[in-house]
Amino acid sequence: MFPELTRDDVFRLETRRLWLRWPRMADAAAILRQAGEKAVAEMTANIPHPYPPEAVEPFIFAMRKGNALGEHLVLAVTPRAKPNELIGMIGAHRQASGTPFIGYWLGTQHWGKGYATEAVQGLIDTLFSLVDVPAIEADTRVINPASRRVLEKSGFRPEGSFLKSLPARGGLFPCEQFRLDRSTWAALKSWGATGWAHAPELEARTSADAEPELPARLQQSQSETCAA
Ligand SMILES: CC(C)(COP(=O)(O)OP(=O)(O)OC[C@H]1O[C@@H](n2cnc3c(N)ncnc32)[C@H](O)[C@@H]1OP(=O)(O)O)[C@@H](O)C(=O)NCCC(=O)NCCS
Repeated sequence: MFPELTRDDVFRLETRRLWLRWPRMADAAAILRQAGEKAVAEMTANIPHPYPPEAVEPFIFAMRKGNALGEHLVLAVTPRAKPNELIGMIGAHRQASGTPFIGYWLGTQHWGKGYATEAVQGLIDTLFSLVDVPAIEADTRVINPASRRVLEKSGFRPEGSFLKSLPARGGLFPCEQFRLDRSTWAALKSWGATGWAHAPELEARTSADAEPELPARLQQSQSETCAA
């Protein structure tokens, strides 16, 4: 599913403040320290808690191998100014349906700065640009409003709740499914590129005139993405 371009470890994805790059063995300590926090692990399906130190290097190896084979695209999230410093991870995974599924986490000290939204928007732009997929999916635990907000700011729409197996949490948990269709993404990108969100005459429009499905935060974040 993932193209030649992403299958080499020189692949980089650049956003306004971040570099997303392949994970390396040198990231092991940063992954163990940050993914090992309960607040991070408990919202994910596959991060164990406590995180066994001996599991980190095999995990990095498996992620690199899957990247090389085009089975998935899993990237370290790093600040552009410090690309050796992993602050989180993000990945897109193949599903049997053909629609990729994305997941992500950041170390707690980096929460609340918009980094996850920036990384998610960078990844979805890349996926829709490089891969012929009709949509991208994600899900969150229903007790995870921060992740829900990241997806909403990126144009995903909720599709309902379901019980999902979260192997590292040891059972089934209520989760919410999200989906971003290519057509929605393309519309959001074109609105941003034409300055739709910032045109003064449009800002003066009444709420009755406004596009009903597009929250103000999303207008802003999409236009920022396009401007970058
Ligand atoms: C989810 C996660 C990646 C978000 O990272 P982040 O960089 O803080 O996200 P952003 O700053 O881009 O956006 C977070 C949004 O959630 C909002 N938010 C945070 N906590 C919230 C809460 N308790 N209730 C409601 N909204 C909340 C923030 O205000 C922000 O929205 P805003 O920009 O409209 O103000 C991070 O919390 C994390 O790693 N959590 C643990 C792992 C995880 O949940 N992974 C996702 C699995 S589906």
